[in-house]
Order: sequence, then C-alpha cells, then structure tokens
Amino acid sequence: MNTTAVQDVLVVGASRGLGEALVEEYAGRGAHVVATVRDDRPSPLLDFAGRNPGSVEVEHVDITDRERLAGLRDRLSARRFDLLWVVAGVSLADQQAVGVDIADDDFDLMMRTNVLGVMRAVETLQDLVDPEGTIAVMSSGQGSVADNTKGGFEVYRATKSALNQMFRSYAVRHRDDRRALLLMAPGWVKTELGGPNAVLGIEDSIPPLVDAVDAERGTPGLRYLDRFGKAVNW
Ligand SMILES: NC(=O)c1ccc[n+]([C@@H]2O[C@H](COP(=O)([O-])OP(=O)(O)OC[C@H]3O[C@@H](n4cnc5c(N)ncnc54)[C@H](OP(=O)(O)O)[C@@H]3O)[C@@H](O)[C@H]2O)c1
Repeated sequence: MNTTAVQDVLVVGASRGLGEALVEEYAGRGAHVVATVRDDRPSPLLDFAGRNPGSVEVEHVDITDRERLAGLRDRLSARRFDLLWVVAGVSLADQQAVGVDIADDDFDLMMRTNVLGVMRAVETLQDLVDPEGTIAVMSSGQGSVADNTKGGFEVYRATKSALNQMFRSYAVRHRDDRRALLLMAPGWVKTELGGPNAVLGIEDSIPPLVDAVDAERGTPGLRYLDRFGKAVNW
C-alpha cells in the first residue's frame, strides 16, 4: 500500500456521472487529471474543466472505436499516469430478459461497449501507466455471478461478468506486472445509468471509492472490490 496521493490520473468515460465525479474528486485531492469525452457536446466535465484548466485536461475517445483509442494513446505517449480509470459503460433495456425481449442491436452495443471497449481501452492504454501504478476498471456488484440471487438487469449483469472474466484473463497474462489491477463496484448510484431509484448519491460512492483504489496502490495483482475496499464474490 502506498500512502502518497496519486498525481497523474487518466479517466476514460468522464463526460458525466461517476466518471465526471471521479475527475472532480481527484482534482480536489490535488491530482492532475486527463479526462475523456466522446465529443464536445456540453457536459458536466466540459463545465468543470473550463473552471479548472490547471488541473483538468480534456481528451477525446470513443472506446468502441479502435482507431480513436490508438490515437489517444499516441497523443499521450510521452506521458505517464499513476492511475488509469476506465469508467465508460452503458445500460440499455435493463429489465428485459435476454433471449426474449432484447433487441439485437442493444445487446451488441452493451457487450461491445462494456466488455470489448473497456478491455481494448485497457490493452491500448496500459503502457501509459507507471509500472507500479494502478489500472482500475468500473465493474459492478451486478457482475458477480455468485451474488446473483435476485435476477434482473440480465444483459447488463452479463456484460459486467464478462468484463470481470476478461480482466481476470488479462491479470493472468500480466502476472509478473507490479501494477494493481482493480475491478471496482461503486454501489447503486443515482446517475443517468443508475436511475432515480438508486440508493446512493454520488457523494456516498465516490469519496470512499477513491480511498479504496488509493489503498490498493503498490499491491500488485487483481482484486474485485466494493467502494469500501471489501472483496466482492466472483
Ligand atoms: N450508476 C450506478 O449505479 C453504477 C453501478 C455500478 C457500476 N456502474 C458503472 O459505472 C460506469 C459509469 O456509469 P454512470 O452511472 O456514471 O453512467 P452514466 O451517467 O450514464 O455515464 C456513462 C459514461 O460512459 C460514457 N460512455 C458510454 N459509452 C461510451 C463509449 N463508447 N466511449 C466512451 N465513453 C462512453 C458516457 O459518455 P457520453 O456522455 O458520451 O454518453 C458517460 O460519460 C459504467 O461503467 C457503469 O456500468 C454504475
């Protein structure tokens, strides 16, 4: 465990919601943050970056676009980050049963974004991360196969389980790395994706989540953790 605060953070998928809140939290703790949006539509991130030009730099990427990911890596190739946070994700058609109601395009988009896109972001951007730094990926408690006793959110759950599995394979392939590899479950939070019935506000999730990620820095290997740093069942 490393007790000094992170200095340089790259947050992918930060236009709004949890990603944007992470940017505010790290900037508030004194870090310099490079934060990505897909485009320059007005967003909370662009507002925040406009007010904090010294601590936040805006970059552009769509994680489903391989060439744009490579372009981001090339533009940042001279930089080193203590922490790469891949936050981007989508949830469509949450309550529908897979194989019954789901539109093929919705299924494809969720898998392409939450699994392929996130893993491609990790694979493409990993070399920008300090050899003793951290790669954190936004998973979800819904990705736990063992804890799925209530059902619901079937496709979304499956995307996060698949993401966990793929990141676990990544960790096996990189078993000699000294980086901390973290799958994080932020809790059910009120955002566009979480919806208005979520039990947590952003202020309940993000500060402990950042503390939990900080606490893992310097400890190599893979963990699947909740926002308090407690292990989640696979
Ligand atoms: N909220 C919750 O309760 C909760 C719980 C567990 C896990 N999570 C996870 O936390 C992450 C953030 O969720 P949120 O609640 O903050 O959702 P949100 O408010 O809907 O934000 C989603 C973010 O992902 C970005 N994004 C989506 N597709 C992208 C792509 N192809 N390329 C780049 N960026 C993309 C969005 O950018 P645009 O503005 O361009 O669309 C937006 O910044 C997701 O991975 C989600 O699964 C959320």
